[in-house]
Amino acid sequence: MEHKELGSTGVKLPEIGLGTWEYHGGVEPLRKGLALGAFLIDTAEMYGTEEVVGETIRTRQGQVFVATKVSGNHLRYDDVIKAAEHSLKRLGIDSIDLYQIHWPDPGVPMRETMRAMETLVDEGKVRFIGVSNFYLRNLEEAQACMTKYGIVSNQVKYSLLQRGIEEDMLPYCQKNRITVIAYSPLGRGELTSKPLIRHRGAFNVLHNIARQTGKTAPQVALNWCLSKPNVIAIPKSDRTERVAENCQASGWRLSPEQITALDRAFR
Ligand SMILES: NC(=O)c1ccc[n+]([C@@H]2O[C@H](COP(=O)([O-])OP(=O)(O)OC[C@H]3O[C@@H](n4cnc5c(N)ncnc54)[C@H](OP(=O)(O)O)[C@@H]3O)[C@@H](O)[C@H]2O)c1
Repeated sequence: MEHKELGSTGVKLPEIGLGTWEYHGGVEPLRKGLALGAFLIDTAEMYGTEEVVGETIRTRQGQVFVATKVSGNHLRYDDVIKAAEHSLKRLGIDSIDLYQIHWPDPGVPMRETMRAMETLVDEGKVRFIGVSNFYLRNLEEAQACMTKYGIVSNQVKYSLLQRGIEEDMLPYCQKNRITVIAYSPLGRGELTSKPLIRHRGAFNVLHNIARQTGKTAPQVALNWCLSKPNVIAIPKSDRTERVAENCQASGWRLSPEQITALDRAFR
């Protein structure tokens, strides 16, 4: 498993983490991922998976980097504090490694939310502050509201099928050393199954590269994400063998020609 720095924190994260939205696999697949070096687990107060994450890491405290999220409808100061405390309890930990704002709420002043996030760091309940589903303007506004700490990551949808962030968000994050956590990096499974008609040509390229490299199509799709500087990916699977397959998307690299071919095919 290769690693990338979280923002400019000096903390190294595995470039493949474990997603848990609509996760129903129990502790085993997550433990398999941890055993293979994917020691970042992503959850959220709204996923209903903080308890299973807590159970998974109970005997591994301090060895797992736990990322969770406060929902966008809990962004008032008191609500953020309460949400974090509830997440800590469900996870069975004293400190959340990465606390992310799940989505922005234009109805709540950003300054109020960021003040709560900074209070949580001051109190030792959170180590690092991240955001999710933030457009560039939201990210810049949030950064401008911070008085003590920085925003270390933005978790956004990114895959061969969803490349909107390449326009402005990805270059901005690369320039400013903010980690992009790619969610739905397998296109919610679309990149692992039969192609839709409109993507058939592109999928032929994906499968040809899988054959050339001796990897599977999901591994090639994930490795393409990881080939981009500052990007790590958090695929989700309920199945132990697929978690292992996804973890093995790291530790090797597509060639520049293969990356270009995929860039063009899925443009
Ligand atoms: N911040 C946000 O707003 C947001 C939004 C969406 C997701 N996320 C995060 O990102 C994580 C991943 O995104 P996602 O769950 O939307 O989609 P994803 O990881 O792109 O795809 C998950 C789907 O792919 C299947 N799959 C996974 N590995 C596979 C493999 N090797 N071969 C074949 N099928 C495979 C899974 O089925 P099985 O489980 O049956 O294997 C599942 O149906 C989430 O779990 C969550 O942590 C965040």
